[in-house]
Amino acid sequence: MIGVVYWSGTGNTAAMAEAIGKGIAEAGQEVVVKSVSEISVDEAAAFDKIALGCADMGAEQLEEMEFEPFYTELEGKLSGKKVVLFGSYGWGGTWLDDWAERVKGAGATIVADNLAVLGAPEDEADCVALGKALAEA
Ligand SMILES: Cc1cc2nc3c(=O)[nH]c(=O)nc-3n(C[C@H](O)[C@H](O)[C@H](O)COP(=O)(O)O)c2cc1C
Repeated sequence: MIGVVYWSGTGNTAAMAEAIGKGIAEAGQEVVVKSVSEISVDEAAAFDKIALGCADMGAEQLEEMEFEPFYTELEGKLSGKKVVLFGSYGWGGTWLDDWAERVKGAGATIVADNLAVLGAPEDEADCVALGKALAEA
């Protein structure tokens, strides 16, 4: 079972999450797609492969009220896991690079390039491909 866990304020990162889930399913793997409000840290930490998504918020940061505390707790449980990162942004787009350093520092492996999408994902192909890459990693 592969997890796709995300935070999305206006639906763009949520749409990415669904398309990533589709790619995982197309690769023949079982997948659970949940927003952070629908899953506990321990449930998320049970996946060996996990796609983590968060919109670019604050000043090139993870959303700080809900996702940052969730991720901070999850970070201590990421060692040895295979991870991909994704999210939607509005004008900057550097937050995933900083986040990737944290994920690697936690001992996880990032198995495909971060996927940042400006606004809404008009073409889901990149998201589907990211899901497949995680499924096949
Ligand atoms: C409070 C707030 C802060 C934001 N800060 C940034 C930012 O620092 N850099 C950026 O590129 N976009 C920023 N954005 C834009 C969002 O990342 C963008 O609208 C994105 O598509 C939202 O994705 P979502 O629909 O998954 O919430 C911000 C949006 C809001 C509401």
